[in-house]
Amino acid sequence: MVDVAVIPAAGFGTRVLPASKVVSKELFPIYNKPAIHYIVLECVRAGIKEVILVLSKRKMDILKYFEPDPELERFLEVKGKLSLIQELKVFEKIKIDYAIQEKQLGLGHAILCAKDKVKDRNFAVLLPDDIYIAEGKIGVIEKLIEVFESEKPDGGVVLVKKVPKDKVSKYGIIVPSRKHKNLIYISGVVEKPSSSEAPSLYAVVGRYVFTPKIFDWIESEKFDRAGEIQLAGAFGRFSKEISGSVIACQIQGKWLDIGSPDGYITAFKEIARMKIV
Ligand code: G1P
Repeated sequence: MVDVAVIPAAGFGTRVLPASKVVSKELFPIYNKPAIHYIVLECVRAGIKEVILVLSKRKMDILKYFEPDPELERFLEVKGKLSLIQELKVFEKIKIDYAIQEKQLGLGHAILCAKDKVKDRNFAVLLPDDIYIAEGKIGVIEKLIEVFESEKPDGGVVLVKKVPKDKVSKYGIIVPSRKHKNLIYISGVVEKPSSSEAPSLYAVVGRYVFTPKIFDWIESEKFDRAGEIQLAGAFGRFSKEISGSVIACQIQGKWLDIGSPDGYITAFKEIARMKIV
């Protein structure tokens, strides 16, 4: 069972500064909802009962979005806007918790900040910069959990999508070892390789399901040249040293990167056009 998700959202949002200086980029609206709404809704739909947001102290505005607002609800009730009340209550049954990342030391480090709350549970990770639309719906973590539960890997399952060669340097790129239908057993990951060094064209999308064993691999991961602890480094070594421990999964769909200005505009248009949630 996977009933907890970690959403790392402590970064400075440098790609969208100065817009992200006072308002966290996770709260930027996409059509009529803040970006983080879609990510947490993806968790609700996958049956996740608890979300741990990894935040920095300057990004506590994200938490406020998930707090109940009885005054607003009363106002809407008087005005007879009941469907809006329902929309506000969509997160009523999910526990929203948080952990603080004091220093921006990389994605692996951010996930480690949630270790005390995840404890020994299997858990999902959703990067809020990535939105994935599959089968006309926003969200894919439910499908990844299904694969995790049927394959029972020692380490985890990560979503991948094939990207053009000139884009590999933006992503974690997997080393494929064995393929079976839409699943690829991996034996390493290279974080942001040059196009000549890329081991494949399969990029890690920002949706993962891990066993708690991943924490040991993150803890033993060394700082990279940029002074960060990478999640890809940790599950890359795990997959290399313990064969079959990490499975990459391909799911047909559209990948939107909302962490850059152009990607944000594309996502906004796409979601507004589809009017889907
Ligand atoms: C992160 C991960 C990378 C992954 C990417 C997906 O990179 O480190 O492996 O491919 O997200 O968006 P970031 O975009 O945070 O630099």
